[in-house]
Amino acid sequence: MTSATARIVLGVAGGVAAYKAADVLRRLVESGHDVTVVPTESALKFVGAPTWAALSHHPVSSEVWTDAHDVPHVALGRGADLVVVVPATADLLAKAAHGLADDLLTNTLLTARCPVLFAPAMHTEMWEHPATQANVATLRARGVIVLEPAIGRLTGADTGKGRLPDPGEIALLAQTLLAAPDAFPPDLVGRHVLITAGGTREPLDPVRFLGNRSTGLQGYALASVAAARGAQVTLIAANVSLPAPAGTAVIAVETALQMRDAVLATIEAGVDIVVMAAAVADFRPVDAAQYKIKKTGDPSRGPAPIELVTNPDILAELVTLRRSSAQPSAPVIVGFAAETGDADADPLEHGRAKLIRKGCDLLVVNAVGNGKAFGTPDNAAVILSADGPARDVPLGPKTVLAAAVWDEAVRRISVPPRP
Ligand code: CTP
Repeated sequence: MTSATARIVLGVAGGVAAYKAADVLRRLVESGHDVTVVPTESALKFVGAPTWAALSHHPVSSEVWTDAHDVPHVALGRGADLVVVVPATADLLAKAAHGLADDLLTNTLLTARCPVLFAPAMHTEMWEHPATQANVATLRARGVIVLEPAIGRLTGADTGKGRLPDPGEIALLAQTLLAAPDAFPPDLVGRHVLITAGGTREPLDPVRFLGNRSTGLQGYALASVAAARGAQVTLIAANVSLPAPAGTAVIAVETALQMRDAVLATIEAGVDIVVMAAAVADFRPVDAAQYKIKKTGDPSRGPAPIELVTNPDILAELVTLRRSSAQPSAPVIVGFAAETGDADADPLEHGRAKLIRKGCDLLVVNAVGNGKAFGTPDNAAVILSADGPARDVPLGPKTVLAAAVWDEAVRRISVPPRP
């Protein structure tokens, strides 16, 4: 089955964030999926049935008595390729954990045999309550994917953990489960992972910088998938304008030197896997001018040259640090290399030489240029390893490549999980 023909049940529980489920619905329908919306009675108090029916092009029901001759409570769950619940309230999580079935959505959850994804939203106290945490643990132990809520503004004037994850991220993770149902095993529970994303900017003056085309999509996909697999995630983001993936701690940086400092400080705290997905500038201007650089008066003299100095190689530094540490096999270190072929070698040959030169455990090599990789939702890559065969990941969502990277990295962890 291709993901474009999938049958999805979108469950909507009764929380204010129900209106954001309409955005998730639009994204899934626009991707070509056949989506049936099953709101709870209380969800319909927030967003009415006509909205769901118009956006999904399907009739909408909350209870099992409509069209009873079709036995909808069994048919919907059995026929689904994926069930996504947005928002998953504390009440809905409790019902799902205990197998209650008093409406169409909870019945569907019991009959579904496909992957199930819950995107919770509630107030911080409700999320942190031991009852909710126990229900989430029960569901996760059954193989259900329960995302961590995002941190931010809640319904009242308060701020904290409990916001619905970004609708774009929910839709992306749903699509990932359709393309790769095993993308989120709980194998990063008790692990702290560090990911760098985006591209550094090296200032020339207060308004100009030397930069690159990286958007951070691949690094953010790695973070999103790691969190869904249960990891504690620190995401060091250089100049990325994407919403923070749910369940991750984002440290924003601008330059290579700031990234280096943030990486080294995080490593100090203990990290199991480092993935350096960021495009780090190799050089920076010796001095950033204090004032905006002006055109020179005489055009025949041309612009003043920009003097550059080499930036530290953070990845190579991590490898050196690890070698001299008490635990020379931890953390697992993964590099990324965006390569173009040239007169001397193809992208993969450049990648193999770089893996040896950098001394990391894995190097994810992707061919770039001609619009490939930068800013696109898809990526193709070869994961080269220092100790085994290469793994080819064909063109597909960046989250699916991320899952393959975590598969390979987890297998190389040599220390026990954190308590
Ligand atoms: N990297 C780094 N610090 C740098 C440059 C790169 O940590 N100053 C990391 C990147 O995050 C990536 C890997 O090294 O994981 C490979 O980056 P790349 O730019 O391809 O490597 P370079 O050593 O700069 O090689 P090239 O000469 O091809 O630019």
